[in-house]
Amino acid sequence: MAILHRNYSLKSYNTFGIEAKADYFFEFDTIDEIKSFLNENSIDNSNYLILGGGSNLLFTDDYEGLILHPNIKGIEVVEENNDSVLVKAGANEDWDEFVAWAVTNGYGGIENLSNIPGAVGAAPVQNIGAYGVEACQVVEKLDAISIESKKQVEFQNFHCEFDYRDSVFKKEYKNLFIITHVYFRLKKKPEFNLEYGAIQAELENYDEVNLKNIREVIIKIRESKLPDPEVIGNAGSFFKNPIVETRFAEKLLAKHPNCPNYEIDNTNTKLAAGWLIEQCGWKGKQVGQAGVHKDQALVLVNLGGAKGYEVLRLANDIKKSVLIEFGVKLEMEVNAI
Ligand code: FAD
Ligand code: EPU
Repeated sequence: MAILHRNYSLKSYNTFGIEAKADYFFEFDTIDEIKSFLNENSIDNSNYLILGGGSNLLFTDDYEGLILHPNIKGIEVVEENNDSVLVKAGANEDWDEFVAWAVTNGYGGIENLSNIPGAVGAAPVQNIGAYGVEACQVVEKLDAISIESKKQVEFQNFHCEFDYRDSVFKKEYKNLFIITHVYFRLKKKPEFNLEYGAIQAELENYDEVNLKNIREVIIKIRESKLPDPEVIGNAGSFFKNPIVETRFAEKLLAKHPNCPNYEIDNTNTKLAAGWLIEQCGWKGKQVGQAGVHKDQALVLVNLGGAKGYEVLRLANDIKKSVLIEFGVKLEMEVNAI
């Protein structure tokens, strides 16, 4: 059932656990409900926000506008052949429960994306990625409602302009389309992706390499590295890992041989933002009630009662010092609202 709340608390709708309120908060279960809402209400272009689980957001203040929150559920195999299935999932299916469903059914492709918080509808927005896999490898298409035309639009994978932690929904179509369903092409004969980090080593503790064991290993690795938002408010990596020209990276490496780096292509290299931030002395630092996690410098945390603007101020100070120390410009992954 659709509900319009007024003066609504957002505390349980953001994993930073920031206390903020929205003037209006509209939740809806179906496409018809959002269509009639959009038809009956003229929505000011600059003053609304689409919200999933709030695990990649920072509310810097109360939200003086309208929040649109899809509650659309459902997981359904809509096509099947010898090799694969096409699965349609509703925007508000919990991402990790969806991964668990795929693993239980023997469908491969998203097991490395286990334990990422948030909703299915947000997965294509920043093209979620972890442990060598990105959502763009399995998203075949998606359905969205255009807020302007109030019509349903289908986006094929190539329309989404997926890139590292990026898509058209973070750029020119930001907040213009409500993603209602995502279609995933999953493999019935899974091909495992085990190249990244400690996966291989951890799998040696298991008799067999299968989807279930890979999922378990990924969860274990992630739990050892990333703080649980239920315990300490955070939104995962606060910044993207910067991609710089390889010529620049080589100069940096000559001065700092330990700087982790990953070749992207012939001319570009990715650096580890967590390392750069740690080298600037930020790891474990607390400023007001905001802080830098003690084990993972790329994760900013709410140490209890932090204001969104405190976290943002800390983020800006970190950006400044990484720029001064290394000449590298960090870009936020988290959406500051
Ligand atoms: P929200 O935070 O609610 O929204 C994120 C953005 O998507 C906003 O711009 C919002 O407007 C837009 N949006 C949300 N839903 C829709 C929709 N239905 N239609 C259109 N736009 C929409 N991310 C990774 O990529 N890899 C990781 O390994 C990872 N690890 C994390 C670990 C932790 C502990 C935490 C807290 C976060 C992590 N994240 C990671 C970030 C986050 O989980 C993902 O970005 C996730 O996809 C966000 O989902 P959400 O539903 O919470 O989105
Ligand atoms: N590092 C440090 N100090 C730190 C943190 C990291 O030196 O405080 C070094 C590590 O030692 C390692 C390198 O930086 O050499 C990379 O660290 P890690 O493997 O922990 O990964 P990350 O780059 O910090 C990225 C993603 C994560 C994703 C993991 C696994 C980004 C911005 N972050 O983190 O995604 O889960 O790799 O694939 O790309 C997210 O997007 O929210 C997120 C958590």
